[in-house]
Amino acid sequence: MGHPVLRKKARALDRREIRTLPIQQLIDDMIETMTEYHGAGLAAPQVHVDLRVFVALSGTDDEHAAEPLVLMNPEITPLGSDIVEDWEGCLSIPDIRGIVPRAREIAVRALDRKGERLEFRAQDFPARVIQHEYDHIEGVLFLDRMRSLESLAFLTAASSGAPAF
Ligand code: NI
Repeated sequence: MGHPVLRKKARALDRREIRTLPIQQLIDDMIETMTEYHGAGLAAPQVHVDLRVFVALSGTDDEHAAEPLVLMNPEITPLGSDIVEDWEGCLSIPDIRGIVPRAREIAVRALDRKGERLEFRAQDFPARVIQHEYDHIEGVLFLDRMRSLESLAFLTAASSGAPAF
């Protein structure tokens, strides 16, 4: 937090750009960084790259076998009006957790790392991570989404199970 790129609306990728070596390398580096810091997701602005790209754990039951999601130029649409509140942390705001309202279910449209169109629905925790990462490419941090800063806390017993992303 404090780096200007985290507060900027990131640039969309040109579809031809996606298959280039620098972008493929960026994706691999982001997956490695997410894994190293035990994150559930990571957006390019968090590694100071101004591009609309993020990676996230796939959210399937078989987490270890599944490849992480790689979303380029994503669009998300809330489905229904269910809002759920839960703890979030952010790899760019170390050791802080807060309760953030998010849509329970979303529709996602994006390009994958090969530049192919991707469309799916996500619910609950995976939907939360995708909304948090989407905010990163819009220059928004979870602190901005909190209804009240009262729950803002350093890691405690109540929030210790909450991962960062
Ligand atoms: Ni974050």
